[in-house]
Amino acid sequence: MPTIKVAILGFGTVGEGIYRILQERKEAIQKETGYTIDVHSILVRNKGKVRLTIPGTKVTDDVQEILSNPEIDVVFEAIVGEEPAYTYLSEAIEKGCHVITANKAMFAKHGPALLKHAQFRDVKVCYEATTAGGVPIIRTISSLLPADRVRRIRGVLNGTSNFILTKMREEGISFEAALREAQARGFAEADPTDDVGGMDAFRKLMILSTLAFGKQPDWQDVPIVGIDQLTIPDIADASKGNLRYRHVANITIEADGTLRGSVGPVLIEPGHQLYGVDGVDNAVIVDTEHLGALTLIGPGAGMYPTASAMVGDLLQIIGKRETVALTS
Ligand code: NDP
Ligand code: HSE
Repeated sequence: MPTIKVAILGFGTVGEGIYRILQERKEAIQKETGYTIDVHSILVRNKGKVRLTIPGTKVTDDVQEILSNPEIDVVFEAIVGEEPAYTYLSEAIEKGCHVITANKAMFAKHGPALLKHAQFRDVKVCYEATTAGGVPIIRTISSLLPADRVRRIRGVLNGTSNFILTKMREEGISFEAALREAQARGFAEADPTDDVGGMDAFRKLMILSTLAFGKQPDWQDVPIVGIDQLTIPDIADASKGNLRYRHVANITIEADGTLRGSVGPVLIEPGHQLYGVDGVDNAVIVDTEHLGALTLIGPGAGMYPTASAMVGDLLQIIGKRETVALTS
């Protein structure tokens, strides 16, 4: 059976999830696609760290051992921050590898350049996991275009913030205690400042903006507010009025093509699509010209939801085995 050799850059919450799913679903993937997926190598920062045993896979802290290897077909990227991730993926594309990333801090800024570069090199760049975790929003919007036109996108795009707000409301626990739990469960970033300060949701909104509208607004024109100023009394007061705080990212295209975006806490009434979106779930409402409003809800962070989006990207790249014989 033909083999596809993949490398995983980063072996934290997400990288380990990719490896686990590829092992757990190995036979099903073989059956469905006709390919064996070989996790050839893994990049980490600290080789001395105790981690899952990975038999038959090279674990290295030298990215060139991966990028200079002509056998690698696909590079998964799950490291942290704009650099060196952008440089690594640019190099992988230049070498002719397909790339799959979860790194929204890198992709919000450098996604358009990577996509252009990939087109030139005739490889694919997939980024489902950058936005809304396991919710297939990138595939969904892509499938609507260009037959339809997106008018507005809004939703809950940060799982950590939603988890904290839910815990504060339902259990009355402090912001700090709820954040610690989100970190322990692998939802929060290594530095959670961007989760609770709104920047993470903003970056995801910019990724959706590029996809849906082909452009982003000037970043400085988008007001960004986090949940870090909300207190338990604020949340309790809202509950008394039967309202719930949600951290909402919103972007609209006006008739003249101007984009208007905002990110911040919003009070939501019962009956609204975002009212019941609790815990680590994300939700995205897409308003389009022909379809109307479509809402997707699901886990927005964590090992398996994120990794499953990335393995889904891999399956899109390699395609399914032809099951129907075409007759002439
Ligand atoms: P972790 O902090 O758990 O893991 C990061 C991994 O990357 C670690 O293995 C680390 O190595 C490695 N790493 C970091 N910097 C470098 C570097 N410069 N060179 C080589 N290796 C490096 O992060 P997550 O797995 O949670 O997140 C990974 C990426 O996925 C991030 O960009 C994040 O924003 C994104 N993401 C995360 C989600 C989640 O739910 N956690 C969901 C969606 C996206 P070492 O182990 O040696 O320290
Ligand atoms: N820290 C991010 C969140 C991970 O909580 O939404 C998913 O992108």
